[in-house]
Amino acid sequence: MSLIEINALSKQYTSEADCVAALSGIDLSVDEGSFLGVVGASGSGKSTFLTMLGGLSHPTSGSVVIDEIDLYQLPGERLADFRREYIGFVFQSFNLIEYLNAIENVLLPLTVKALPKAEKYALAEDALAQVGLGHRMHHLPSQLSGGEQERVAIARALVNKPPLILADEPTGSLDSATSREIMALFAGLNAQGQTIVMVTHNLENLDYFNRTIHLHDGKLTDDRVAGQHCLAS
Ligand SMILES: Nc1ncnc2c1ncn2[C@@H]1O[C@H](COP(=O)(O)OP(=O)(O)O)[C@@H](O)[C@H]1O
Ligand SMILES: [Mg+2]
Repeated sequence: MSLIEINALSKQYTSEADCVAALSGIDLSVDEGSFLGVVGASGSGKSTFLTMLGGLSHPTSGSVVIDEIDLYQLPGERLADFRREYIGFVFQSFNLIEYLNAIENVLLPLTVKALPKAEKYALAEDALAQVGLGHRMHHLPSQLSGGEQERVAIARALVNKPPLILADEPTGSLDSATSREIMALFAGLNAQGQTIVMVTHNLENLDYFNRTIHLHDGKLTDDRVAGQHCLAS
């Protein structure tokens, strides 16, 4: 079943000096339970694509429909609610708050939820256990390795149990052994049914995806399902 429907999605960044077509006419349907890789050279539009999937930036034209919700038809406040409920974001730079310990960072997305404190803690502990960090809950980011900080960021993305995880170059600042551990962690989450869309330019990561799309100058140029050959040109 399809979770994401993208139609004729385009984004231009305009300034007085020039106009950049960051994305042009993307059509794509992504099934629930996918682990979709998005690859392409630097500047090909990968991050723009992900921010549009996540409801972070309005397209110039076209639509993104997730679970039958047309994101950019929602009023701003509802779009913010949608992001909170539906999307877990993971970024290359981890974006952890340095003066909060691991569990406090993971609790952040639950701040606005009307849940008893003990229940929030239980959810955050579960999320940290899920990423293998149950023994580091009270460490500050500065006391954790890069791979462990990434795990905290993943736990924070998971804590709300969002239908969709979006990750932008999550292994971009990790060494290759740690990258493989993190990719194995994502693959494990996917095996449990979690839908994931991941931007990467590390070609070693391709093995983990069950489908990979390529962007070139803002256009979708290739679409491959693992084990099959080219589906679209
Ligand atoms: N906020 C912005 N304002 C103007 N141009 C931008 C902005 N963000 C990205 N771009 C341009 O859009 C194109 C695609 O960028 P991006 O989506 O970041 O690519 P990637 O993530 O593949 O490196 C690039 O040419 C980039 O310079
Ligand atoms: Mg990028």
